[in-house]
Amino acid sequence: MELTKAFSETRALAKGRVGLVPTMGAFHEGHTSLMKAIRERCDTLVVSVFVNPTQFEKEDDLESYPRDLASDTVVAEELSVDVLFAPEVDEVYPAGSATVVEVPGISQWMEGKHRPGHFSGVATVVTKLFAGIRPDVAIFGRKDAQQLAVIRGLSRDLRFPVEVIDGPTVRDWDGLALSSRNVRLSSSERETALGLSRGLFRAADQIDAGEFEGDILTATVRDACRDLAVEYVTLAALGTMVPIKELKLPAVLAMAGRVGPVRLIDNITIDFNGSEAEPDRGVILDEPSRLGTLR
Ligand code: PAF
Repeated sequence: MELTKAFSETRALAKGRVGLVPTMGAFHEGHTSLMKAIRERCDTLVVSVFVNPTQFEKEDDLESYPRDLASDTVVAEELSVDVLFAPEVDEVYPAGSATVVEVPGISQWMEGKHRPGHFSGVATVVTKLFAGIRPDVAIFGRKDAQQLAVIRGLSRDLRFPVEVIDGPTVRDWDGLALSSRNVRLSSSERETALGLSRGLFRAADQIDAGEFEGDILTATVRDACRDLAVEYVTLAALGTMVPIKELKLPAVLAMAGRVGPVRLIDNITIDFNGSEAEPDRGVILDEPSRLGTLR
């Protein structure tokens, strides 16, 4: 495996069909499941590790974001990654950088409303990765469902010849969706954080039983999250992310909340075939995530 710092050397190593997994590092099983899912679809697998400053609205959130390139390198080697691209900030944002990418519409709801500027930072960095590495296929997790929609939107609008695929939300053995931020939760905060998945799973059970009313589903989630500071719970159309009142097309039931110092997001995506809805609860690990060992 090669460890690179520059777009030019990364691109020079990219032979045949190129697969890209964009990440901010501190790998957990969510990242490794994406690497495994894309490995067979490409000749050269590039994984980028870059904690992108422009997608953080708060300096302390950026500074406290976990970083562990040494451990990420070991994990990437084990998974037969060909190139681990870990650029410095000035490689991605050279002096005088002014260009930003906005994806209006999709970006305005939910995360976009609560984290102004966040999706512009994500869209800008992903555009730079697509332009600089020129992957044939790139994969993103469904845990960030709105981010995935934003990236699909920019890729379509800017005519990038890249196939954007998605992987499931991976959950710890107790249901908590994996996030590098989980390492900052104390054990009691972690208990509280379980409200997110508990609420979404209860709503998924209601959907399985035929409940399609948005207000009822969101109330179920809020009820399970009474101990945490909920920012939003929204039922939205999957492609556009526009909030909807009733489940009658593919959708996402998404939420964000704060537990102590940590902001967490979670969702279930819901397939809809015209009459039946099928919620996707993600993949649950059989044993505690390796994130526990990174604490
Ligand atoms: O999901 C992430 O880890 C980041 O938002 C991404 C897509 C790597 C862009 O910085």
